[in-house]
Amino acid sequence: MAAVLRPVTIENPADMRSWSRAARSSGRSIALVATMGALHDGHLALIEHARSRADAVVVSIFVNPLQFGENHDFTNYPRPIDTDLAACERAEVAAVYAPTAAAMYPRGFETRVVPGRLASTMEGHSRPGHFEGVTTVVTKLLAAVGPDLAVFGEKDYQQLAIIRRMVSDLDLGVDIVAAPTVREPDGLALSSRNQRLTPAQRRAAVCIPRSIAEAREVAARPDATLDAILARVRHVIDDEPQASLDYVSVFDAGTLEAIDDLDDPMRVAGRCRIAIAARVGDVRLIDNADLYDR
Ligand code: PAJ
Repeated sequence: MAAVLRPVTIENPADMRSWSRAARSSGRSIALVATMGALHDGHLALIEHARSRADAVVVSIFVNPLQFGENHDFTNYPRPIDTDLAACERAEVAAVYAPTAAAMYPRGFETRVVPGRLASTMEGHSRPGHFEGVTTVVTKLLAAVGPDLAVFGEKDYQQLAIIRRMVSDLDLGVDIVAAPTVREPDGLALSSRNQRLTPAQRRAAVCIPRSIAEAREVAARPDATLDAILARVRHVIDDEPQASLDYVSVFDAGTLEAIDDLDDPMRVAGRCRIAIAARVGDVRLIDNADLYDR
């Protein structure tokens, strides 16, 4: 019978570094998938992506207090560690890096990695300090794991762009690989936060991907204006009594700046995206897509 290769679980940066050093010296390449746990098929798709590109996959599981604001989201964030470890085992993950908060942020911790303009719009505007928490923790995870590549999801497109910029600006020397958004059959993007929706809220949440799909249909018309696209999103979300829109933005896929004029060069795949954030009950959900690709 084949031996079950349980992933090793590592709880502090020093042990993580030794593990990685040993893996590298035996000639293995390493890919990191950074997560906050409550693993779902979106995370598992990232792990598959990582497995196809490296010899050993490290999954980090850490609910990072630095990236949460002053609300209950951090305490309410699901932490099903046993189920997560079992999922990592099935996915043939080599190591799970699950540091404690004390190991990540010991007494006296005070250094931050401060992102630039990319972090000033959308999620950065709605959640002050959020991306500084993300860039700080991702820098620490990259430093402890020392991967050849790290896979991030387009579900959090702004996060992906900020991390790419940071890795380039700070010469971190790791390949950042993007993976497409995994969705439920009705279009809702998978998210650990979906677990907190009641069945009625879960049905209501489909207005989020629907608003994006309808915006893309409007955008495909030759006479489409930016106002008409944005108005369609607002209309679809307003129509759902359980949902309220935080923001909708049509933005340049590279600079993340809001587009104020949809001129012809922008009307091609890969140039501009649409992102929305909305609340369903007290659960805040985000989604985004290319405005033009088919
Ligand atoms: P988390 O929300 O757990 O997401 C971990 C990774 O999974 C991110 O790269 C995210 O974009 C990706 N992901 C989430 N839902 C996805 C989906 N439906 N399809 C494809 N990929 C998806 O993002 C974070 O954690 C944190 O900010 C982190 C980077 C770990 C730093 O704390």
